[in-house]
Amino acid sequence: MKFPVLKGWMVGSGQRPLRKQLAITLSAIFALSILVAVLLLNQLFGLQARNLIDQRSSFFMDAMLAVREYTSKDVNPIVAPLNEGPGGFRPESVPSYSAQTVFAYLKAKPDYRDYSYREAALNPTNLRDKADSFETGVIERFRSDPSLATLAGEKSTPLGSMHFVARPIKITKESCLVCHSTPDRAPASQLLTYGDSTGFGWKLNEIVGAQIVTVPQKAVFEAKDRSLFTTALLFVIAFVAVGLITNSVLN
Ligand code: HEC
Repeated sequence: MKFPVLKGWMVGSGQRPLRKQLAITLSAIFALSILVAVLLLNQLFGLQARNLIDQRSSFFMDAMLAVREYTSKDVNPIVAPLNEGPGGFRPESVPSYSAQTVFAYLKAKPDYRDYSYREAALNPTNLRDKADSFETGVIERFRSDPSLATLAGEKSTPLGSMHFVARPIKITKESCLVCHSTPDRAPASQLLTYGDSTGFGWKLNEIVGAQIVTVPQKAVFEAKDRSLFTTALLFVIAFVAVGLITNSVLN
């Protein structure tokens, strides 16, 4: 079997001129190298984009958990006594309320317009927190598998594909049941503000809802595609330069 490329190098007359043969060989090597490099980089950049989205959503979730903690440790002791008095309920004492309120301020900034944070429950006290069909699916997953600590995945929305991370909300303290078991145990202020028909009947150790953060991913993947395109372009420019230099050396 003969190898045409090598033949071109070794045999002079009657064959393709060496320079033309070299040009074809180099172009083929370059084209193949660029293809392989772009395919590998696509994987690598894709992985980096995914990591970035994961980092953003974990940070977002951690920040919301910190707001909740601040509310229960620092704000609740001050505000809770007000809820024992006459008048309406002060929701500032509720971690779920403060986390969602802080998030609403964040969302008002253009950079976070497409983010979302929810504390959805199947039977919520505040009807704003009523789980929609997607959230109900997530909560049901947690209820059917109590060992599941987080659930992450993709969700398609009218704003494009989003990455979500969810954590179950489980009733681990008897103190929660003062306001979420039966209306007669709840403060009068709560009944005045929210009524007595929703957000009750929760049980100890029951998973009643889920915290769900949603992070947009379109912009991250678009940036990844731009980087890939720029890198491929740089390869092409470098290889063209090598080709031109080789050509002038041969001259
Ligand atoms: C003093 C009463 C009170 C106590 C105690 C209390 N909650 Fe609530 N909880 C509320 C009220 C009122 C709301 C609705 C707040 C709002 O308007 O966003 C609420 C909202 C929530 C929500 C959001 C879903 C919904 O029902 O609207 C979750 C989740 C929740 N509470 C969990 C807990 C857990 C867990 C505990 C115990 C650690 C607890 N709550 C203790 C009164 C209470």
